[in-house]
Amino acid sequence: MKVSVLLSALATTTQLVSAAPFAAPEPDNFGDVHVHGVAHLYDKLIKKRALLPDATLKGTTDGRLGGIQSGNNGNQMVERREIRKLYTYTVSGDSQPGRVYDLFIIALRRTQVARSYTDKNSWWQLAGIHGRPFISWNGRAPGAPSSALKSEFTGTGYCTHGSTLFPTWHRPYLAYVEEVLWMSAYWEIQSKVKDAKEKAQWEKALEQLRLPYWDWATNGGSFPDQIAGNTHTFRFYPGESNKNLWPKWENPLYTFRFQSGTYNAGTNFGNDAFRQLPRTLRHPKDQTPGVGDNIGEARSDLRNNAASIQQQVNEVLLRSLKMNSDSSIRSEERHKINTSQDPARWGAFSNRVGNSGSSVESIHDTIHVLIGGRFGHMTSVPYSSFDPVFFLHHCNVDRLFAIWQAINPDSYVTWQQNGGGTYGIAPGTNDTVNSPLEPWLNPTGGRLNSNAVKNTATFGYGYPEVPKHLYQSNPVGLRRFAMTEVQKLYPNTVSSSSKRKRDLYTSEENEGLDNSVDNNQYYEWRVDVATDRGALNGSYSVHFFLGKPARDYKQWASQPEFVGDYIVFTHSMEPTVDGNPEVVSTEITGSVPLTNAMVKAFARTNLTSLNPQDAIPFLIRNLRWRVTDSLGNPVRPRNVKGLKVSVSISHCTLPTDQIPWTQYGEWTFLTEIARRIGKDGGPDKVGIPDVSSSSTTAAPTSTTEAPAYGTELSTLVTSATEEPTSEAATTEAPTSTEDAEAPTTTADAVESTVEASSTASDDASPTDG
Ligand SMILES: *[C@@H]1O[C@H](CO)[C@@H](O)[C@H](O)[C@H]1NC(C)=O
Ligand SMILES: *[C@@H]1O[C@H](CO)[C@@H](O)[C@H](O)[C@H]1NC(C)=O
Ligand SMILES: *[C@@H]1O[C@H](CO)[C@@H](O)[C@H](O)[C@H]1NC(C)=O
Ligand SMILES: *[C@@H]1O[C@H](CO)[C@@H](O)[C@H](O)[C@H]1NC(C)=O
Repeated sequence: MKVSVLLSALATTTQLVSAAPFAAPEPDNFGDVHVHGVAHLYDKLIKKRALLPDATLKGTTDGRLGGIQSGNNGNQMVERREIRKLYTYTVSGDSQPGRVYDLFIIALRRTQVARSYTDKNSWWQLAGIHGRPFISWNGRAPGAPSSALKSEFTGTGYCTHGSTLFPTWHRPYLAYVEEVLWMSAYWEIQSKVKDAKEKAQWEKALEQLRLPYWDWATNGGSFPDQIAGNTHTFRFYPGESNKNLWPKWENPLYTFRFQSGTYNAGTNFGNDAFRQLPRTLRHPKDQTPGVGDNIGEARSDLRNNAASIQQQVNEVLLRSLKMNSDSSIRSEERHKINTSQDPARWGAFSNRVGNSGSSVESIHDTIHVLIGGRFGHMTSVPYSSFDPVFFLHHCNVDRLFAIWQAINPDSYVTWQQNGGGTYGIAPGTNDTVNSPLEPWLNPTGGRLNSNAVKNTATFGYGYPEVPKHLYQSNPVGLRRFAMTEVQKLYPNTVSSSSKRKRDLYTSEENEGLDNSVDNNQYYEWRVDVATDRGALNGSYSVHFFLGKPARDYKQWASQPEFVGDYIVFTHSMEPTVDGNPEVVSTEITGSVPLTNAMVKAFARTNLTSLNPQDAIPFLIRNLRWRVTDSLGNPVRPRNVKGLKVSVSISHCTLPTDQIPWTQYGEWTFLTEIARRIGKDGGPDKVGIPDVSSSSTTAAPTSTTEAPAYGTELSTLVTSATEEPTSEAATTEAPTSTEDAEAPTTTADAVESTVEASSTASDDASPTDG
């Protein structure tokens, strides 16, 4: 980065970094280590990476990405492992697990602590590529045509969001960080381990070293101790056999401590409260200096959304989207998709703009904010990458991307207009598969584009669900394997309950499940949300319930009626110091699955099945949503610019022995449900500010009954129960799409009915239970 820009600011800043009670690693001195001394590793591991023959091991060179071509017998796809699996991974010849894990921790902490922020491969600079401090990295100036690049485009980092390039830009980002960590680990071994036998064990560990991922969609959303605990205890330590001499380290996955001054480095580090924080934080209660984490709150937020996240992952990976017959395709997107060219619809998978339903990006957004809470680094796009968990989180996103690629081998980056621009891309650019992914370079110094990052083997890694023995050699086998694994890891509520998990359910739940499955088919339900990314000042949430939200909004996420959150991941709308807004208004979309919560409701309410004739009246009576802003305070849903909510339904076939995964039907919008519920997300005003005393509720002028299950909805039930593949459903699709785009531009008549009917009392329970 342009360090000189920062130096004047640094000179005047006081050092607020609190002393950590842990030993700091000694500084790296990469200049001293030459590859000549390690011939066998050089041949096996280094040469293929296209480094210059006499290059010193200064991390990776010039932002070039060669991939780590290490592994047994030239295996160039070493598995990236889940963090908990890596923790228990044993190197052959070792009597206990931990050597690769310890090596990873050492490399990570050295990168964070021992490398000066003036080094482009320091944590501060690597993290700084993504967002703040919005300056060039490795001399990679804003992209072509550079003459078109004005200052307002540089109010951002290089990262691509709301973009067709979202999955492909982050892939080389991770690969580069992985290379830097690998090189640090390599140096550690060469400089510390003298004993030849011991060294051979460490080199075996090094071959297996890749970035771990954190699979947040399994294990009930548990936040692993490896990430959430603040201390790392070694099981192996290079070059020192006396355990009493091993240091106690602050866990480098728990937090990153900014080197003195870098967190408040002048104008480049923003004009908001993040400048005051000497280390990265999760769920702090505010942003005052010295504030601590609230890991317990992060854990419960993740847990409360676990069922929703698990179902979204299943659906995003397994859904079948058929152009022209899929009513969930928004009209804005229709013009740019040609089914025969993109049958699987990369656009709908890759990002949150111009679609409906969940995308890999919208799921990723939710996780960011569940970890960061209201005020943590992960919650704010330009600061998120400083928190080390960012890379484990994105590694999982990259894994879902690789799995999706295996399932949809004929679909890849389709063009999409870039919205706000990035440090390397001018706003309005037509992003395509050939767009350069700044600031990354290939081994010969040329720019990397999405085509160049298509295969993970290029970078020397794979994932358990896309194993090397099938990758590229057997696409049909790979696809089947990947889909089977997805269903095993992320089963739908109905598919898992139909087998052995029955004893986890109450008798009402089991009865409801029985009622819901007919001829191996059932209905999946979800709410689709579209909203303006810049509607509120920063990241905000739409919370869904089946039943009445609690009066105290702090209880929402833990009450039995809670379904899940739709979360907008953005950052403060305050202008940057140069006067330009950081966030461009864009419509973004996502979804929150309802089925799991509906199955739970079998025991709590009079809902008796997932079939439309039972579920539609139930949802009209019980589905509620509320919004909280970036400070966590409730906001009246109708006042959220651009917020649209709609329920949709997919007729699914349960896994069988022949097809061991859920087969989704098209998604059909049942827009009338949300219309009946109204723009305030339900007639009861609990949890909505500025409503209870206002005239909206004060004057019950009408005694109209609660909206009944009307004729219009009968029609919807009929069409929803039709075979999704039928001609009728196909031809009707565009109409329901149009409807879906403005589900809240409700006919006044319907709405006033809803409002009037709700005025009697806040306490009139809308639930059936
Ligand atoms: C869609 O793509 C196919 C194959 O590339 C092409 O033949 C067809 O003309 C395209 N259709 C439209 C409407 O662009
Ligand atoms: C964007 O680029 C693609 C691929 O080159 C092209 O097919 C498409 O027409 C372009 N769109 C616009 C709006 O320029
Ligand atoms: C927006 O949020 C930022 C902090 O993220 C705060 O400094 C600012 O005062 C807020 N602006 C408004 C209008 O609430
Ligand atoms: C649930 O009970 C309410 C009355 O409490 C009734 O109006 C409604 O129709 C019932 N819903 C279903 C799906 O049976």
